[in-house]
Amino acid sequence: MDAVRIYGGKSLSGQTRIQGSKNASLPILAATLLIDGTCEIENCPDISDVYHMLRLLESLGCQVTREKSLIRVDTGGVAACDMPADSVGVMRSSIMLLGALLARMGTVSMEYPGGCVIGKRPIDQHLCALRRMGVEIIEGREEFQAKAGKLHGAVQELPFVSVGVTENLILAAVLAEGETVICPAAREPEIQALCEFLIKAGGRIQGVGTKRLVIEGVKKLHPVRFRVPADRIVAGTYLTACLCAGGNVFLEDAPCEQMQSVLSCAGALGAGLMVWPDGLFVEGRACNRLADGLVTKVYPGFPTDLQSLFMVAIALSGQDGWIEETVFENRFRIVPELVKMGADIRVEGNRAYIRGDRPLHNTIVEAQELRGGAALVVAALAAEGTGIVRNRHYIDRGYEDITLSLRELGADLELA
Ligand code: UD1
Repeated sequence: MDAVRIYGGKSLSGQTRIQGSKNASLPILAATLLIDGTCEIENCPDISDVYHMLRLLESLGCQVTREKSLIRVDTGGVAACDMPADSVGVMRSSIMLLGALLARMGTVSMEYPGGCVIGKRPIDQHLCALRRMGVEIIEGREEFQAKAGKLHGAVQELPFVSVGVTENLILAAVLAEGETVICPAAREPEIQALCEFLIKAGGRIQGVGTKRLVIEGVKKLHPVRFRVPADRIVAGTYLTACLCAGGNVFLEDAPCEQMQSVLSCAGALGAGLMVWPDGLFVEGRACNRLADGLVTKVYPGFPTDLQSLFMVAIALSGQDGWIEETVFENRFRIVPELVKMGADIRVEGNRAYIRGDRPLHNTIVEAQELRGGAALVVAALAAEGTGIVRNRHYIDRGYEDITLSLRELGADLELA
């Protein structure tokens, strides 16, 4: 039962609600470690990455309870500072716990984090930036130890924009002694959500949403209740499903204000889009050429997490196109699988050239990572015949129930 079976060739029609954001809930859950007492986090998605994060928090001594999408984390009993290797190994966000645990316990020992295999994904910048705040790090082959007496603020001039490094530094800085400046800081909406959570809890952060964050360490934070925003990448996934299979769908709670680059690209490909206060209406299918190609960038640019999904839309558009990946160096792992389905895609360095006139046919393909896996399911919806996407566990890392959501949108698919 680690696969999805898709009966392709059917256009979509229906409505689904967009789940809470994975990339916002993970650092916010890590941030609860900075707060003595019980925090309540609403709208947390029911996905395996959140499950692993909760297991990690429990292994550190937190009491965690879950009522549907509301998660309560009581950090009163936090005692351990060693993290279980199996959960750290499967999820890159476990690195978030480093900054938070150093702030709380002063010492951490952990394995190098895992996550999707999309390029090297080193943690050198995390470690380098934390060293500037007074952390001593001993790196072994499989694990490392980090120790800080008291973290102190620092000017962090980073060599490039990183979501994870920005988040880790925010977590380390909010209770540190003195001021921390992060520049250039990542501006992803998930970072804004983390800052809003910490500010609500008593943190002092200026420049939220800009590329220069200034954090003035405070002595203590207090417990809060906070609602995680909707997931812009999941909304983008179901938007692309409509672009590929055709039809009309309503994506309830889609965070349209965070999706400008995605909406403009979908519009240029031929989608009819209507932004409503409670969501996004999408109509039509990809049929136009993207004159300037598609280049992934840090926010507010086009998100790398939707690159493979838009590759499928271009492959089905009837028009040739190209994509340049500038964030990760190995994010074209979906290409051989799409080629098995009949696509004509050539990769040269960090560019993929896509022929738009090849019909896709369903077959057995294998997900290699989270978003690429979702993109294969979307491709299969638009392809003729019955297809199987194997390795569903990758997709479950970020989608609550991709088969249910797509069935609500009129697709014909099931777990297999
Ligand atoms: C986060 C997101 C992921 C998204 C990515 C880019 C989460 C849980 N994951 O990942 O979905 O695709 O942002 O928007 O929020 N790098 C280094 N050294 C480091 C850290 C990063 O070289 O110490 C490199 C990475 O290999 C990558 C680039 O920096 O090439 C950007 O990575 P980063 O922004 O840190 O992504 P993540 O935080 O891992």
